[in-house]
Amino acid sequence: MSRHVPTPRRRAAARVFAAALLIVAAACGDRPGDGRGYTQEPLERPGFIPRGEQPSPMRELGRPNYARAVAIDLPEEPATAVAPADAPPAELPPGVTQPMFAAGETLYQGRGNCFSCHGMNAEGGALGPDLRDGAWIHIDGSMPSLVEIIRVGVAQPQQYPAAMPAMGGAQLSADELEQLAAYLYALNPR
Ligand code: HEC
Repeated sequence: MSRHVPTPRRRAAARVFAAALLIVAAACGDRPGDGRGYTQEPLERPGFIPRGEQPSPMRELGRPNYARAVAIDLPEEPATAVAPADAPPAELPPGVTQPMFAAGETLYQGRGNCFSCHGMNAEGGALGPDLRDGAWIHIDGSMPSLVEIIRVGVAQPQQYPAAMPAMGGAQLSADELEQLAAYLYALNPR
């Protein structure tokens, strides 16, 4: 009989046991659902298989991709077209015609090699100065001074590491030198 007398110590042990049972039962119980009998588990844990169901083939695909809606603020006005960087200036200087400018640009960005040191749009680069900022190192910026320096090159550069070869290293006719000069002349502020 004495075995069944609940001593305070046994009562405490029984309480601990009951509490442990409750925790285990809660852990095994149904997960919180959405009220319609569906469990949230598969969304949170793709590897989870609800009791009594076959593993879904979707499981092999890993975590689902959640589509995200992103709000985009559309501008009220359509963007205005931006002029390309090498667009000709709105107004060409006297003595420079549109065909001259276009021919000069083609030479500059092609056979003349100018772009390789002075940048595609004459903005300057590691090997040659900006040719459109109105600031000149060797010349006064007039048409004749431009023609001449392009013809002979710069054997002794002042601010850049290597010399500029005559005509950029190309063979250019007098007309082509004139076209290149016209192109650069028109790019510069006056
Ligand atoms: C190999 C590189 C290189 C090439 C190619 C080149 N240049 Fe130059 N250019 C230079 C250098 C370097 C200078 C002188 C910079 C200095 O003195 O510090 C110069 C100077 C100039 C100047 C005078 C700039 C000033 O401020 O006085 C003009 C104009 C010029 N180049 C136009 C051209 C044209 C047009 C072409 C193509 C036909 C061309 N360059 C090709 C490197 C080059």
